[in-house]
Amino acid sequence: MQKKVEVLPDWGALIQRALEVVLDKMQAAISERDRFTIALAGGGTPKPLYEAIAAQPLPWEKIHVFWGDERYVPPDDADSNQRMARLAWLDKVPIPAGNIHAMPTVAADPAADAQKHDAELQEFFELPAGEFASFDLILLGIGDDAHTASLFPHTDALQVRDRMVTVGNKDGQPRITFTVPLINHARCIMFLITGASKQPALAQIFAPTADDMTYPARLIQPAGELWWLLDEPAGRELKQEY
Ligand code: 6PG
Repeated sequence: MQKKVEVLPDWGALIQRALEVVLDKMQAAISERDRFTIALAGGGTPKPLYEAIAAQPLPWEKIHVFWGDERYVPPDDADSNQRMARLAWLDKVPIPAGNIHAMPTVAADPAADAQKHDAELQEFFELPAGEFASFDLILLGIGDDAHTASLFPHTDALQVRDRMVTVGNKDGQPRITFTVPLINHARCIMFLITGASKQPALAQIFAPTADDMTYPARLIQPAGELWWLLDEPAGRELKQEY
């Protein structure tokens, strides 16, 4: 694992740096495999990045967009991660509809929808049974509780190792989420983290020892590249060598 930690002066600088990394990984993927597969994070931090990507002149037909997690709500719900990314980016560019691979959330059965998306990934990546997809880039955030994607502390989803997509649980609310092994199979993972409220979680995530079930982002240990982009308020207390 190649771990890169950068502390940027503020959110805007972090977004600019994140855009550079996204475009770099996109160019490499398209030149090597003629396509770029990216899984998006939800929440608020990445929204300006999605807006910045939308303003770039890109080969949209070669770009495939997925989500690392989704709230179990209809696509037009204000809480939907899909809706946020469509309004910030995807509705503004000529990306083919078939290149947008949203997590299904309308079967009124989270386990069935998780299984359906798992099958969709298996088909898209042409995977033998039991294999895990390797996304070119997975974007992640963390909560103040050190969750990432929809892998919340002390939930069953943290233990799932035999599939790519499972049901997450936030305070009893179902989520659809990539599993730890799927995330760790990515060629590149980039965390985007802003705000002083994330300091305590980051301290535990970066600590030499702490409980992974309590601080789930510790479970993200990819074989590929791992980028942490932090703004100064989030990263200022991180003392040890990265
Ligand atoms: C979600 C996200 C979640 C998010 C963190 C950080 O569905 O909410 O995928 O994992 O990345 O909660 O959210 P902020 O960027 O809003 O702090």
